[in-house]
Amino acid sequence: MTLHIGSIAPDFTQDSTEGPISLHQHLGTSWGILFSHPKDFTPVCTTELGRASQLKEEFAKRNVKLLAVSVDDVESHHRWAGDIEETQGTKLNFPLLGDPDRKVAKLYDMIHPEANDTLTVRSVFVIDPSKKIRALFTYPASTGRNFEEILRLVDSLQLTDSHKVATPADWKDGGDVVIVPALQDPKELAERFPKGFRAVKPYLRLTPQPNR
Ligand code: BEZ
Repeated sequence: MTLHIGSIAPDFTQDSTEGPISLHQHLGTSWGILFSHPKDFTPVCTTELGRASQLKEEFAKRNVKLLAVSVDDVESHHRWAGDIEETQGTKLNFPLLGDPDRKVAKLYDMIHPEANDTLTVRSVFVIDPSKKIRALFTYPASTGRNFEEILRLVDSLQLTDSHKVATPADWKDGGDVVIVPALQDPKELAERFPKGFRAVKPYLRLTPQPNR
């Protein structure tokens, strides 16, 4: 099954470093970031799990639960967690799914055979509280992901869900946003954007972030 933006995130039950997890039940009313790692005891993954652990509170402030998966078993994950704590200055503080049967990897198409037959690539799925996939991206094993960028992506999704705006290139929380082109009614524009807006082009209208 090909997963797209808007697909329902496939549910599964799999063992983790914090016990068995059923995805939908585990997420409950939270957002989720499900992200894959090629293998335990690998250098880039070690830094990624450390960085994600350091940012756990930032994700929690946005009502986001982190959930990682690596193809090895949970016993191996527990041993690896010791190295993560030793080298990254933080405990692994969210569940890491074991996936020796590749159940999760297969459901989410995390193995790209042209890259490697058995190991997963670095996939990221952003899942909203209705269990819809809202964003997904994939990096090769050789490139560690930027977890600040994942936070920025969540900020954009949450902002644009509740205001008729979109976020421009390199936007960061607090920066100016663009008004969606479909919004043309002058009365609604005035109500929604009391601080006003600047029309650089009729289709490019910038306004201060409305929830600030
Ligand atoms: C790593 O996490 O460092 C890694 C994993 C698989 C292939 C290359 C690098």
